[in-house]
Amino acid sequence: MPRPESVLPKLGRVTDPSALRPGVKLRPEIAALPPYRQGRAAAPDGYKLSSNENPFDPLPGVASAVTAASDFNRYPDATALVLRGKLAERLGVSVDEVHVGAGSVSIIAQLVLAAAGPGDEVVYSWRSFEAYPGLVTVAGARSVQVPNRADHGHDLPAMAAAVTEATRLVIVCTPNNPTGAIVTADEFSAFMGAVPSDVLVILDEAYVEFVGDPRAVNGIPLLGHYPNLVVLRTFSKAYGLAGLRIGYAVGPVAVLDAARATAIPLSVTGQATAAAIASLDAEDELLDRVRTIAARRDDVWRGLNEQGWAVPKPQGNFVWLPTGEHTTAAADELFASGLVVRAFPPDGIRISIGEHESVEKLLSITGKIVQNLPEGHSARRIA
Ligand SMILES: Cc1ncc(COP(=O)(O)O)c(C=O)c1O
Repeated sequence: MPRPESVLPKLGRVTDPSALRPGVKLRPEIAALPPYRQGRAAAPDGYKLSSNENPFDPLPGVASAVTAASDFNRYPDATALVLRGKLAERLGVSVDEVHVGAGSVSIIAQLVLAAAGPGDEVVYSWRSFEAYPGLVTVAGARSVQVPNRADHGHDLPAMAAAVTEATRLVIVCTPNNPTGAIVTADEFSAFMGAVPSDVLVILDEAYVEFVGDPRAVNGIPLLGHYPNLVVLRTFSKAYGLAGLRIGYAVGPVAVLDAARATAIPLSVTGQATAAAIASLDAEDELLDRVRTIAARRDDVWRGLNEQGWAVPKPQGNFVWLPTGEHTTAAADELFASGLVVRAFPPDGIRISIGEHESVEKLLSITGKIVQNLPEGHSARRIA
């Protein structure tokens, strides 16, 4: 029973919250880590193009599968066995070679914790998915960031060369968030040949369904060849389930068992699993939507090129404007016009491909931004 207000001890008000800080011993690297902050919300007549979400509303069949999963007085099936069985069958692997998590980001966290700790190194390209650095720090390991090539793709030979005795994990992101560049199958096979087979490699394919370039690597058929490869995929992007939090990893059982061991149990809800199963059943319809988004992305890219932008050919559901030191000003300009985008100063701006109606508005503003970039800026095409 709650205690009446009058018998609770009077603690007095702490007017300065920072006064509380010195009393609690935190890991200094964690105290220095900024907490996750979600992007700004869009105005009611604006567009949220900042989180690489799918702009289509959920399919009715998927929504009703979620509603039907109403036994939430019970814990979910911790192993998501039915979904794993369905995925395993499609991918031609055994059920234990599939691991489901509350979003693929939580599986990255599990694998980083499983592979790397204090004194260990994790190699990845930079700039890439903004969650990587924090997850490495949380594990107590050290990030080794290898700069992207001038064309905004991974420099895989340099990443392989950055592997040392201390390296426990390399993360390869294709298409790369936020630059949209792919890793080719040839580049990846040369890379895997150069990395020792006891170093775990994560191939993060969160946007694989949007790829149009036939040279791009596809991790699934490679799994049997490399004992150190785990492929990550998600239902958040192409399948439009970002809000339900569900993604999966495919790879060697011993590595996935290590991820299962570091996972917070029972984080994948029954509703998320039901939605993922219904989405696989409605895959044709969902992949039609993916084709629509990819075609819209290509239209945006062509429009940007015509305006004079030099932007990498995008292969995810987003485009990258390498605005450099003009990033904050350009993102503010887009925001003032009702477009919420993701600014990564001092590198560039990532813009998700959203609703059809957002495209014209976007291009009307990017046309002005490119004209205001100084002559010779690397984001401007040489006329
Ligand atoms: C490259 C990459 N990997 C993984 C994720 C995580 O997606 P989720 O946790 O929603 O599955 C994202 C999300 O933006 C991403 O961009």
